[in-house]
Order: sequence, then C-alpha cells, then structure tokens
Amino acid sequence: MRILLGVGGGIAAYKAVLLLRLLREQGHAVRVVPTAAALRFVGAPTFEALSGEPVTTEVFDDVPGVQHVALGRGADLVVVAPATADLLARAASGRADDLLTSTLLTVSCPVVMAPAMHTEMWEHAATRANVATLRARGVHVVDPDSGRLTGDDSGPGRLPEPEEIARVALEVAARSGPPSSPDLAGRHVVVSAGGTREPIDPVRFIGNRSSGRQGVALASAARDRGARVTLVAANLEAASTQPLVAAGVEVVDVSSTRELREAVRAAAADADAVVMAAAVADFRPAQVPGAKIKKVPGGSPAAIELVENPDVLAELAARRVRAGQVVVGFAAETGDATGSVLDHGRAKARRKGADLLAVNEVGEAVGFGTDVNEVTVLDAQGATVASAAGTKRQVADGLWDAVAKILSDM
Ligand code: CTP
Repeated sequence: MRILLGVGGGIAAYKAVLLLRLLREQGHAVRVVPTAAALRFVGAPTFEALSGEPVTTEVFDDVPGVQHVALGRGADLVVVAPATADLLARAASGRADDLLTSTLLTVSCPVVMAPAMHTEMWEHAATRANVATLRARGVHVVDPDSGRLTGDDSGPGRLPEPEEIARVALEVAARSGPPSSPDLAGRHVVVSAGGTREPIDPVRFIGNRSSGRQGVALASAARDRGARVTLVAANLEAASTQPLVAAGVEVVDVSSTRELREAVRAAAADADAVVMAAAVADFRPAQVPGAKIKKVPGGSPAAIELVENPDVLAELAARRVRAGQVVVGFAAETGDATGSVLDHGRAKARRKGADLLAVNEVGEAVGFGTDVNEVTVLDAQGATVASAAGTKRQVADGLWDAVAKILSDM
C-alpha cells in the first residue's frame, strides 16, 4: 500500500518516526509530508532515511510536478500523526497553506488523523467542532489516549502508541465499502453500554463482567459515520467515555437497571436506532437496607430475595417509542446441554422481538474484556442476516452496516 504520513508540529512528532518504521517494516511504501513546525522537532533527514523518499513541506518545492495533486492521487491511505490543534483547524476549514493541507484537499482515499495536544486544547470547543467537522466528512479521527503529556501534566490528549495508530489505520483502509462513509448522518442513535449494578446494601452490589468496550466501539463507530449519538453508560470509567464526550457524544451515566431503563427510554424518544449493548441485570435484591449488612458471629448468612427487573430491550421492541425505530439487542451466550450458542440466540431473537440480535459466545476468556469479538446477527425470526468478526470496532461497523441497511430500505 502507498501510505502518506502527515506529521504535525508537536512534541509527539518523534512517535511518527516509530510509526514510519513500523509501516515500512510491514511492507508499505511511505511518503512523509511534515509541516514546517514538525521539522523543528524531527529533522527531514530522519524521515528521508527511514522512508527512502524525499521530504518537503511546501507546494513550491516541485512546481512542475504539481506535488500536492500527485501525492493525493497516489495514496491508498493517509495517516496524520500527530495532528495538532492547528493542523486539525486548518484541515477542517479546508486551508491549503502548506503541502500537507493542500494534499489533504486532493485525496480520495481513507484519511486517519491521530490528534495529540494538551487536554485543554483537545477539550476546547473549537477543537471539538473541528473534529466533528472532519468526522462528518468521513475522516477517521482517532481518540487520543489519556496519560502523561509534555511536562508534568496528564489527561486526554496523548498520542496513542505507534502500534495502535498503525493497527487502526490499516483496519480503516481494509474496511470494505466506501471508507468511513457518513451513512448515519442526520440520524440519532442510542447505545447502552457497560454492566448494570444492583445494590445489595450501601457498599455491595450484584454486577457482571461486561467491560463496556463493545458499546463504546459502537458509539464511536456511529459518530464516525455521522450520527448524533447518545451513550447510556452503565458504570463505565470516565477514561473510556471522556474521549467520546470530547468528540460530541452525549454520555448519560447510570448504574442500576431501572436508571438505565429511564435514560434509554428518554433518549429513544427521537432515535432512529437503539442498540442495547449493556449487560443488564435480570434481577435485583427486593430490599436494600440503608446500612451495611453485618456478619453475625456464628449465624448463617441471610438469603437475598430477588425480584425481576424490567426487560428494557423487550419493552422497546414490543412498544415502539417511535415508528420505524430499529431496535437491536446483544445476546451473550454460552452453549449448554440444551443447545448451542446459536440455538439459544435464535430462541432469544424470537422471544425479544428486536429487529436485530447480535449473538456472541462468552466465557471467562472470550467476549468480555477482550479486544476482539465475533457476532452472528439474527433478525426477529432468528434467521442469520449478517456476521461480523474482528476487533470490537469492526464488529460495531458490521452491525451499523446492518442497521443502516434497514434504515435506508424504509
Ligand atoms: N436486556 C434488557 N433488559 C434486561 C435484560 C437484558 O434490555 N432486563 C437486553 C440486553 O441489553 C441485551 C439483551 O437484552 O441486549 C439480551 O440480554 P441477555 O442477558 O442475554 O438476555 P436475557 O433475556 O436476560 O436472557 P438470559 O435468560 O439468557 O439471561
């Protein structure tokens, strides 16, 4: 693949050197186009030696060759790392004041930008608006990591590791269909993620192993495809939702099933699709004492009486809060003596009545907490309509493909 590596003028430009080496080692031809400021951090000879190609920053460097057009047309993938606040602003407003921004205006291949800056700059309304503009145009903007920044401050804004940027960029390039097409533009989608907690007493709860990563990937993918996204986050760490908030996703934090139900139903009122990726507790303790349950020396522990929680997905499917709304569920299954993972999934699809049910196998080592997933997507009759495997992001895109198809067929 011919990759154009844009490098912005930030301290993280040194990581672009490692990214360049990684991409070259994987057999890709890489042409580096730094900004003038990037060359204050890393010298052109470093990029030239490692890429084996010339490095220039200005459109005036090779006028007869009309470089910006040639570079743009010749690239299969553009990766910009680090993308500074200034570079994002120039790209979002369509400026063409150096070779990199001019080239960005001529490319038709997938573009992946990995921002890096101080937290204040990343969270500033201007940067958020620029990122939203770029995403709406189909640019894949990678959420920055949270961690140590230049100096002794830390927070969201750190450039992800080169391996991670390479992985995401190559995944974006490999994705079939129109790259990062904004096929959910103008749609409002609601995603629930995480696992609910049902209090036993003020310090204990009944919970589950859900990491929320699949739901976060769904929210992130929907936003990249142009949707307005509400994420109902059941007990997710702020570190995993902060980048989404910064990217314009509305995050509603909830804890128990009943809180989740209220939040999902409120957000669903004007939604085109609702995806229930949260692991929702089916039961909750009937009584929750106001004080911690104490151990009685020599006594046997009291039984906890459980009552059933509302089934949020089944309710949404049975009584549509909005006509034509696509309702999607997840079924985390394990096979047992009574049937396979898919047998249980098919029965659940018919029982729940959702338009789509994404069935996956779970256990201690698969599904929960891992970075990869594999789902079979069933319709309300239990028939297989699609399958998606790979990273949670790839699975998310596979599911949104199925949702977008239903919405566009209406
Ligand atoms: N779900 C829900 N409300 C509940 C339980 C589950 O909305 N009270 C949703 C989940 O978000 C998921 C789907 O239903 O999208 C399937 O969840 P799962 O726990 O597999 O289904 P259950 O009906 O609880 O079936 P099981 O008896 O296998 O636990």
